[in-house]
Amino acid sequence: MEDRADANAAVWQSADSVQAWAAEAERQERGRRDHRRFMAVLLPFAEQDEFTFLDLGAGTGAASRTILDLRPRSTAILADFSMIPLDQQLGYLRSAGFEGIDVYWKQLENVIYGGRRPR
Ligand SMILES: C[S@@+](CC[C@H](N)C(=O)[O-])C[C@H]1O[C@@H](n2cnc3c(N)ncnc32)[C@H](O)[C@@H]1O
Repeated sequence: MEDRADANAAVWQSADSVQAWAAEAERQERGRRDHRRFMAVLLPFAEQDEFTFLDLGAGTGAASRTILDLRPRSTAILADFSMIPLDQQLGYLRSAGFEGIDVYWKQLENVIYGGRRPR
């Protein structure tokens, strides 16, 4: 029997599965808005606090975007290993208004990237 962790990795490293998930996630994002906002307000930070958070398995970055919207002085670092092409992942940040987007580390399909949003 295949190890659970390996099965999860296989799903997220299949280009077809990930593209299908990304398209569906974009479609469903409106219905997830309240859940994401609830998650963000549960964080132990006030609206104008400065803090940095790490979004592991960031996908399209939708969760980070919600936190950044509600806590505008926060900084997000996103990490993912998916088969969404890196250009597309960086495009998600650009379309969310990020500047100075850079890739800090990359090895095979693993990547850590980030940027900042003007205040
Ligand atoms: C269900 S999606 C959730 C994405 C995002 N957090 C959201 O709320 O929309 C799971 C994400 O985790 C990533 N992922 C799964 N296992 C991972 C691992 N071991 N290392 C890095 N990323 C991983 C996948 O590539 C995928 O983008």
